[in-house]
Amino acid sequence: MDDLTIVGAQLADGTRTDLHVAGGRFVAESPSGARRIDADGLIALPGLVDLHTHLREPGREESETVATGTAAAARGGFTAVFAMANTTPVTDTAEAVATQHRLAEGASAEVVPIGSVTRGLAGQELSDIAGMHAAGVTVFSDDGFSVPTAGLVRAAMEQMLPFDGVLAEHCQDATLAGPSACCHEGEVSRELGHEGWPTMAESVIIARDVQVAKELGARLHICHVSTAEGVEVLRWAKGRGVRVTAEVMPHHLLLTHELLRSGDTTFKVNPPLRPAEDVEAVRAALEDGTIDIVATDHAPHRAADKDKPFADASPGLVALEQVLAVVVETMVLPGRIDWAGLATRMSHRPAAIGSLPHQGRPIAAGEPANLVLVDPAARAVIDPEQTSSKARNNPYRGLDLPAPVVATYWQGRQTWGG
Ligand code: DOR
Ligand code: ZN
Repeated sequence: MDDLTIVGAQLADGTRTDLHVAGGRFVAESPSGARRIDADGLIALPGLVDLHTHLREPGREESETVATGTAAAARGGFTAVFAMANTTPVTDTAEAVATQHRLAEGASAEVVPIGSVTRGLAGQELSDIAGMHAAGVTVFSDDGFSVPTAGLVRAAMEQMLPFDGVLAEHCQDATLAGPSACCHEGEVSRELGHEGWPTMAESVIIARDVQVAKELGARLHICHVSTAEGVEVLRWAKGRGVRVTAEVMPHHLLLTHELLRSGDTTFKVNPPLRPAEDVEAVRAALEDGTIDIVATDHAPHRAADKDKPFADASPGLVALEQVLAVVVETMVLPGRIDWAGLATRMSHRPAAIGSLPHQGRPIAAGEPANLVLVDPAARAVIDPEQTSSKARNNPYRGLDLPAPVVATYWQGRQTWGG
């Protein structure tokens, strides 16, 4: 742990200040013998928090481990990641949660386990929700699949009510978009002869779940909103006081289904890349608050799992190291949100949704020294080899994008940067 004086950093609200760090916290005065860091021209943001990361450990360590995934997180500006439950075995018991906590020791960012809603993600019987809560879990998700029925959503939410847990739903109605639906259903899927995943497969699940959450007064979080229809349903629900929050992923903010014409399976992801109208709808929703936060859905895969015919390739793409670049490019540079708005959407709000009181804190004396130093002017062409992840399924390959992350500090310890 370093004692630091970070000289001349600009905070998200535009004020310029020196930041002092001792014992892992921000302090008011420069500690004696502190290491001096010149932050002239840099912006200091609170450490980013990702509510939706796939770390693959245990079970698929060839794709990613907690060590490599959190190294990628630190490189992307994150000080905490929520680890999705679709590991092998699934995180569906207190014991599996304890395994996650043990794996997180020595990691480059805080790892917060998400518990599954149903045992083995099988959509049949509920996981041990109360037991996992006792082990520290507050967010539950069958990500990769929708919880199959409204009845199971209701039963799960009833178990979460006593501790105000949140059900994070992957919205893909399996009767409209099953396992062989591999891209957005539309002009491009028809041209390429792929089985499509219609817009309504997302929006009908959002509509179903907001009704259940409304009835119970329970908390619902909608994962990776990708459609204008989905945004409309969210607006309806938020307008009626439903306790629903939502996230958007960087690929849905920047990329469209036209990219599938390349045949590159890197671009295969669930929910799929959509037409430009949907991209504009999710940007507008992130701007006006209908979508609360940006998360990553960082989904590392081995080359062997992607190097297959399009219909058979694994869905998912990496995102931790490029998400800040994409949000700066699509939202900050065009003036749709400012740096304070970015901190809200990528640090304060995700920590609050995940009930993580010690992350997403303001940069102020007494608070944990979790921060990322950002260069607002740097740009670079994305090279997938420049990564701390094990995976190379990077959809931003070759794009000229902002290169914002200069250094990341978690509890005063430098986890990324020179
Ligand atoms: O594309 C995806 N990949 N979507 C998901 O929901 C799961 C994820 C994964 O685990 O690879
Ligand atoms: Zn998902």
